[in-house]
Amino acid sequence: MNDSYGRNIHYLRISLTDRCNFRCVYCMPADIQFAPHAHLLQDDELIRLVRLAVDVGFDRVRLTGGEPTVRPNLINIIAGIAAIPGIKEIAMTTNALKLEKLAEPLARVGLKRVNISIDTLDAERFHKITRLGKLDQVWRGILAAERAGLEPLKLNSVVVRNYNEDDIVDLARLTLDHAWDMRFIELMPLGSIADFQMDAVVPVAEMKLRIESAFGALEPIDWDGHNPARPYRLRGGRGTIGFISSVTDPFCAGCDRMRLSADGHLRLCLLRDDEVDLLTPLRAGASDDDLRALIARGVTNKPWGHGLAQNVIAGSRVMSQIGG
Ligand code: 5AD
Ligand code: SF4
Repeated sequence: MNDSYGRNIHYLRISLTDRCNFRCVYCMPADIQFAPHAHLLQDDELIRLVRLAVDVGFDRVRLTGGEPTVRPNLINIIAGIAAIPGIKEIAMTTNALKLEKLAEPLARVGLKRVNISIDTLDAERFHKITRLGKLDQVWRGILAAERAGLEPLKLNSVVVRNYNEDDIVDLARLTLDHAWDMRFIELMPLGSIADFQMDAVVPVAEMKLRIESAFGALEPIDWDGHNPARPYRLRGGRGTIGFISSVTDPFCAGCDRMRLSADGHLRLCLLRDDEVDLLTPLRAGASDDDLRALIARGVTNKPWGHGLAQNVIAGSRVMSQIGG
């Protein structure tokens, strides 16, 4: 289905929970309060909404959080989504803390690929930026994902001033020996921690300079126009390096996605507060037709893009309540 700007919207990012076993400084405040379980979509409610979204035209999904692997019953949820006719791909974004054990069973029920967050290769700085993270366990999770065939493996790093802007050189170096897609993301401002985030943005232009002064010129690779990461390669590298410039050079023209929050709201644009509440009508007994119409209205009303350049900052949720 196309939105009012003619963009084909077919990619649904599904947040399975707002909870996380990390507390990354760029994602949530240290004292975040999680939603009570009763406010979240139950498994059967979730599967029903995904089925209806597929009827409206979505064919690709990504599971997010918070941290999707802390959701009870994850394996059954994935199997349930995989069984919906019309689903072409199921991927997941995770911090990999639990992947050492989970990668194999997840791949078996139909998960195709994972994006893994890793912001530094230095254990102490990793702990500082994630507040709870253990780098060695995450690293074992990354290797397990590769062994389980959850490929091509994408690694995401949010670059945060005074936390990890020096670390991107070591992360970029990983692509020399590994066929991984390493992606560096500009920090996006959202919710109650927007002031901290605005001050800590490292522009993509600076990231590139840092990498090029260590390795020489980045070689551009063909770009499909929908992937938010503009791709490059280091000379002789096996993997790729991508840059996601959401703040300094937005890619709204190629946007093909919407988000379903764990509390059952369709979020029309990551960086705008416009949402369609699906949970309330669903629990009030709405029919499949009613819910399909609400989802379709969400697609029609999808805003063109974010308003960061006009100082419009979405305030209603932090990133962990949306899923990135
Ligand atoms: N800006 C950009 N990316 C973010 N993520 C979390 N918070 C932010 C933010 N403020 C990313 C994480 C992860 C995904 C879920 O979202 O690094 O890759
Ligand atoms: Fe958790 Fe991911 Fe947010 Fe970090 S970025 S707190 S791992 S949801």
